Amino acid sequence: MRFIYFICGSKTQNNMKFFIDTANLAQIKEANDLGILDGVTTNPSLMAKEGIKGDAAVMQHYKDICELVDGDVSAEVIATDFNGMVKEGEILAALHKNIVVKIPMIKDGIKAIKYFSNKGIRTNCTLVFSAGQAILAAKAGASYISPFVGRLDDIGFDGMELIAQISHIFTVQGYETEILAASIRNPIHIIKSAEAGADIITSPLASILALLNHPLTDKGLEQFLADHKKLNA
Ligand code: E4P
Repeated sequence: MRFIYFICGSKTQNNMKFFIDTANLAQIKEANDLGILDGVTTNPSLMAKEGIKGDAAVMQHYKDICELVDGDVSAEVIATDFNGMVKEGEILAALHKNIVVKIPMIKDGIKAIKYFSNKGIRTNCTLVFSAGQAILAAKAGASYISPFVGRLDDIGFDGMELIAQISHIFTVQGYETEILAASIRNPIHIIKSAEAGADIITSPLASILALLNHPLTDKGLEQFLADHKKLNA
């Protein structure tokens, strides 16, 4: 559900959520302990990076993530045909109430998103690189769409322009599908996603933690502590 209000034509409230983009349990726990984590996204590459092999281990890992975080956890199907995606998606959705079935932006994927939407199973349409793809996924009833900001930047397109364009379209059209800015590579991507109207960012832990940093904060704190020490000397 998008919470967007207009005052004199400008967007004033959206409350962007923070998801972590990893299958690493220690990093998920660290982000969760910060108190700002709203969910987790994974993909087959991130699962492979953690060395999670075999269906049983993959399913158990999703369950472990769901136990760590009280928020949505995107779990991606591997099949690329409609029947296969439906079969896998139903197994994934049955693992835990917080699982969101991640479906690739392909023709059968759109059919699967519509199928799951009719059944009340939430979906995240992944590998979105254009406004047209975003509109199709929203029309099919995707809960989330994941435009890949960093991968667009990598090939010389402005990923953030896509977030702004989709945000504008969804607002004008009243689509309830949430924009999950993915393939985040740095803290600027997070800040710009907030400006552009993303409902959620999913980011590696390092980019989230980089938001904390400012040299003047460090310098100021050092000074405050030094002055306090002088008073108590
Ligand atoms: C998340 O859902 C995506 O799979 C992920 O953000 C992709 O990020 P990458 O482009 O850094 O692999």
